[in-house]
Amino acid sequence: MNFNIQHFESLDSTNKEVLRQAAQGAKEGLTIVAEQQTDGKGRLGRTWETVDHALAMSVLLRPQIDAATVSQLSLVSAVAAHEALALFVPQTRIKWPNDLLIDGKKVCGILTEIQQGQYGLAVVVGLGINVSEPKSGWAKDMRTPPTSLNTYSPHNIHKDDVLQAILESLNTWYNTFIQHGFTPILKAWEKAHIANGQMVSVHNGKTYIQGIALGLAKDGALRLLVNGEEQRIIAGDVSIMESTT
Ligand code: BTN
Repeated sequence: MNFNIQHFESLDSTNKEVLRQAAQGAKEGLTIVAEQQTDGKGRLGRTWETVDHALAMSVLLRPQIDAATVSQLSLVSAVAAHEALALFVPQTRIKWPNDLLIDGKKVCGILTEIQQGQYGLAVVVGLGINVSEPKSGWAKDMRTPPTSLNTYSPHNIHKDDVLQAILESLNTWYNTFIQHGFTPILKAWEKAHIANGQMVSVHNGKTYIQGIALGLAKDGALRLLVNGEEQRIIAGDVSIMESTT
């Protein structure tokens, strides 16, 4: 993939900018980076704040795959982001479906969105990465406690190095997915994630479901053992529950 990187000082949302340019026929590989977002979007309809410390980036993909498998790109991007961030902080792990955590604290969130238009299918992979701690400290009301790469690194990691690392691994894992399908992605994801065998609570926007995380189904859904029965979770927020032993 050829990356066409465009830098902005301030944008409403890098995902929105990719979708706008996709609607005008932008090609696969368009990458939008912003120092600041005034209307950044998070998963499950939440907002995502981007200030001095963070890298906000979105990449346009135009996969020639059927619509049913597009959602698997969320896990493709999680595996790619994991590989890239683990170069800087090796203890980085994935929490289902595509949060990246260090020591249980969130260092990166990913929002993938799709749009069908006159130029065909557009998928945007948007990543928000905390590279350093914000000068004014972290916001108090965050659901998962945040952290940054530089908090855990003896080196001074620069946003540009993180951007390059993410683009390289996204290129690798996207090509693997297109050529070999979802199986290698599932294998890489299973090796890098936190919660197998642990008691978790999943919030699906309305209710909380508690169960034991069993791993991934073949399509990327989370397999959860709830009162002795297996359930498939397609969307939601996972919290790992404190062990009582
Ligand atoms: C999450 O809720 O964890 C996902 C957060 C995704 C945030 C990134 S920042 C770059 C891109 N542009 C957006 O508006 N959102 C994503």
